Amino acid sequence: MPGATIDLSVPDLATLNRRRSEKWAQQAPDVIAATIAEMDFPPAAPVAEALHAAVAAGDLGYTPGTPTALREAFAAFAARRLGWRVDPDQVTLAPDVMAGLIELCRVLTRPGDAVAFTVPAYPPFLSGLPQTGVRVRPVPLRADGSFDLALLDGVRVLVLVNPHNPTGRVLPREELAEIAEWCARNGVWVLADEIHAPLVLDGDPAIPWLEVSDAARRWGLSLTSASKAFNLAGLKASVIVTASREARAVVARLPDLGDRSGLLGVVGAEAAFTHGDAWLDAVLARLAANRALLQRALAVRLPEVRWTPAPATFLAWLDCRALGLGDDPAAAFLRRGRVALLPGPAFGAPGAGFARLNFATSPELVEEMVHRMAAAV
Ligand SMILES: Cc1ncc(COP(=O)(O)O)c(C=O)c1O
Repeated sequence: MPGATIDLSVPDLATLNRRRSEKWAQQAPDVIAATIAEMDFPPAAPVAEALHAAVAAGDLGYTPGTPTALREAFAAFAARRLGWRVDPDQVTLAPDVMAGLIELCRVLTRPGDAVAFTVPAYPPFLSGLPQTGVRVRPVPLRADGSFDLALLDGVRVLVLVNPHNPTGRVLPREELAEIAEWCARNGVWVLADEIHAPLVLDGDPAIPWLEVSDAARRWGLSLTSASKAFNLAGLKASVIVTASREARAVVARLPDLGDRSGLLGVVGAEAAFTHGDAWLDAVLARLAANRALLQRALAVRLPEVRWTPAPATFLAWLDCRALGLGDDPAAAFLRRGRVALLPGPAFGAPGAGFARLNFATSPELVEEMVHRMAAAV
């Protein structure tokens, strides 16, 4: 819809608190939720229209494998927004990225094999991946966001998140190429979690794993979805993408994941990938403004908190160690400030003294979050 204004108005706190999604349902009515990676903005109009139309038509049955329209919509979005040439035939539907990672680990590992990921890490890696019988190998990030490849010695699979959650870092091409070479040399499969790739606010775009090199394509699979960038996480549709015969053979060993995915998720994702650019551009601008606002507010009210704004995601990984609130500063922010951040220790050992703040909301609520955090100190 060229020229249409994009409505990103955020409801008031009482209305947000009535939402049934995980971020809001978990909190008491007087708490501002800045936890789970959901956004508070209204959905993109074309997505809402497509969902309304499906409901009105009673089109609420099972999902038929990976619909061609979804493959093509994703490939076009990837080319336009991510600089990525995707073969629609190598796109496979899965309910969500986490389910895709778990099922791929089942296929690629035997019980007791090691699966690595960097820490701090998206917390379900620590809790969810062991369900497959693997041993997890948390690999600490260095201060610059890179990691020591030697620490992958003996692992079978690396889950590589780019852009990274919680740090928001976008991995440079040379680093990705080096990881790909090392993994190819050592027979390590790479599951590239690129769910945040459309959410690069400025700087260089995230390089899709399957665009890195032949080594990356041979030993890698990419997992992504519309769920973060378009805020559709509850609808359950994501994609696994491959670009080599070997990786395709891995996908062929998966159970039928399309059938477990949500049909409304497919409808929403197709609409988002096809008609969502204007909304996404408006969201990126709003997130960049909120990020700047958060930085200013922290500098004024909580100068002890260390945070270098990152180029991607709507998540701020705040180093609160100088506040003297112990390993879990989020506990104090919640108890005394009535603002909920995700506790740093949930992201692995390096998260002690940190908290993760979600700033995908109104500028007013971002200010109020910092105000409440400062009142708790
Ligand atoms: C890095 C990363 N991977 C996976 C997920 C979960 O995605 P999904 O809901 O598709 O399982 C998230 C959600 O925030 C995430 O940040």
